[in-house]
Amino acid sequence: MTKPFRIAVFASGSGSNFQAIADAVNAGRLAGDSVTSSSMQPRLDVRIELLVCDRPKAQVVERARQLGVPAFVFRPKDYADREAYEKEILERLQALEIDLVVMAGYMRLITNVLVEPLYGRLINIHPSLLPSFPGLDAIKQAMDYGVKTTGVTVHYVDGGMDTGPIIAQRSVEITPQDTEESLAARIHEIEHVLLPQVIERIARGQVQLQGNITITS
Ligand code: GAR
Repeated sequence: MTKPFRIAVFASGSGSNFQAIADAVNAGRLAGDSVTSSSMQPRLDVRIELLVCDRPKAQVVERARQLGVPAFVFRPKDYADREAYEKEILERLQALEIDLVVMAGYMRLITNVLVEPLYGRLINIHPSLLPSFPGLDAIKQAMDYGVKTTGVTVHYVDGGMDTGPIIAQRSVEITPQDTEESLAARIHEIEHVLLPQVIERIARGQVQLQGNITITS
């Protein structure tokens, strides 16, 4: 029997990346007998055990409901402070024995309540080639700056804003015809492929963290 690799996804908005991970699981790319990125790879059993969402009306909550993924949906203003709701999140992650937390459009900074116990098991996807354009509106930041190439980064999360060891990056050209919407659409397409790939590599134990550098085998 393959040991399940349990993931939790944090998201705040539309949840297209959450959907892409669920689609990869359901299509057998992250779980099931047909997982064969190369023919001799052992099978994987990635399971999305929990969605964590800080906005009750976000579309991702409905996606989770339709997919049958349990969700912890909260309103930050119902808690005394950030540490208070993060403690509750951490307890839920520990109770579910989560192996990897994937921040996929979770639009909140997180504190050491989560970062310290989860370091090395907590990743984030960001729509730029970090360290360029961290923070909010990364796609708009890149267009406003006038760079000709931007992209997508998946990285381990540390205490900073979109800092932490980089696991994988893909570049995306910006053309003179691009609008923020057209560029965002191409970036999302890349994200939906890259994020499940990174989860697969981590689940297979193929990503090693050495200081601030990651090595993928
Ligand atoms: C994604 O483009 C992700 O890279 C970005 O939010 C979007 C969420 O889309 N994350 C950040 O900007 C984090 N700083 P989705 O809800 O459709 O997955």
